[in-house]
Amino acid sequence: MSLLMHTLHVELGERSYPVYIGRDLLSDSVLLGQHIRGSQVVIVSNDKVAPLYLDRVRAGLGDRGLVTEVVLPDGEQYKTLATLAEIFDQVMADNHNRTTTFIAVGGGVVGDITGFAAACYQRGVNFVQVPTTLLAQVDSSVGGKTAVNHPLGKNMIGAFYQPAAVLIDTNTLHTLPPRELSAGLAEVVKYGLICDEPFYRWLQEQMPRLMAREEAALAEAIERSCSNKARVVAADEREGGIRAILNLGHTFGHAIEAAQGYGQWLHGEAVATGMLLALELSARRGHIPDHEVASLRRLLADMHLPVDAPADMTAADFLEYMARDKKVVDGRLRLVLLDAVGEARIVDNVTENELMDLLDGTGSAA
Ligand code: NAD
Ligand code: GLY
Repeated sequence: MSLLMHTLHVELGERSYPVYIGRDLLSDSVLLGQHIRGSQVVIVSNDKVAPLYLDRVRAGLGDRGLVTEVVLPDGEQYKTLATLAEIFDQVMADNHNRTTTFIAVGGGVVGDITGFAAACYQRGVNFVQVPTTLLAQVDSSVGGKTAVNHPLGKNMIGAFYQPAAVLIDTNTLHTLPPRELSAGLAEVVKYGLICDEPFYRWLQEQMPRLMAREEAALAEAIERSCSNKARVVAADEREGGIRAILNLGHTFGHAIEAAQGYGQWLHGEAVATGMLLALELSARRGHIPDHEVASLRRLLADMHLPVDAPADMTAADFLEYMARDKKVVDGRLRLVLLDAVGEARIVDNVTENELMDLLDGTGSAA
């Protein structure tokens, strides 16, 4: 029996859509049915998630004229143009027309690639996100960024393409490996730090319940995260300005991911250490007190997230990888710092000396 706990809306005019959060929503035929326009459906998942959840999504679809199941190999290394072409091969072979609906069932990799496939197929077809990792539930399924990777850069080929709905089933989190849960929680903490101080204080208190996967606490954290993301996306859908605050810690984090070789550190783990570096820099600039840096460090450690930059990574390594980041505009590095807990600001005046002092030889983020 499904239980709808929260519904919120991403307000984008005619492209507005609901985000549903609750238990057993995967197979809620009423909710899902409202967002499927025709009799054709393409479910895209991967070989880890499909055995766990695909049958239940399919059962929730009821009788449809045509249902194609595309099961991709699991992993970020398959988030490629080649995999996209395989999706199109199957969808074309089954004769899907422009009334078809693509449903993504999986983490951020499946969501990003399926969204991009939906954006491209017949110049854009209906699309529903059913995210099954915490990271996908609080971040990648909401906001319409879709993409695949290019060998020379992550998420370099893609489109802004909003889903028709997001169905978040908190029950899927019970099968998530602990490391993936912690990585998703890092992004949850991010929302508190950038734009919602009361939420951050709540997270500091409630983290043991979240780590224990208590349903009500998780649903609350997901709702607050998605509400904050929805507000930022509604204000700046295509990241002309304020949306960039969602990247707190990401420029440092991307440098760690790239330097270690993708797949060593999870994205959320690298973001955790990156957020700590961003707060340390904010404190050095006098915007936040030192004790906030120390308490974030304790919180992240309690979440089993890394709090020190990789010991073998020098300041020069950081600078090299950060210079290649998408957030470099006209040669100027743009970083998200805090003016206060719950108030982020994008700055482009951080000097190389400040970064060297922050990063050099410490092997430690705070
Ligand atoms: P992922 O999709 O690789 O999922 C992590 C692992 O968990 C995978 O092995 C997956 O198969 C498995 N998994 C998924 N659901 C599960 C479940 N319920 N139980 C057990 N295992 C499960 O990684 P992710 O962290 O979800 O997403 C990362 C991707 O998201 C990256 O490609 C990143 O670029 C992208 N991303 C996109 C946005 C955006 O705004 N579009 C934002 C953040 C991240
Ligand atoms: N994950 C950052 C964004 O959606 O803009």
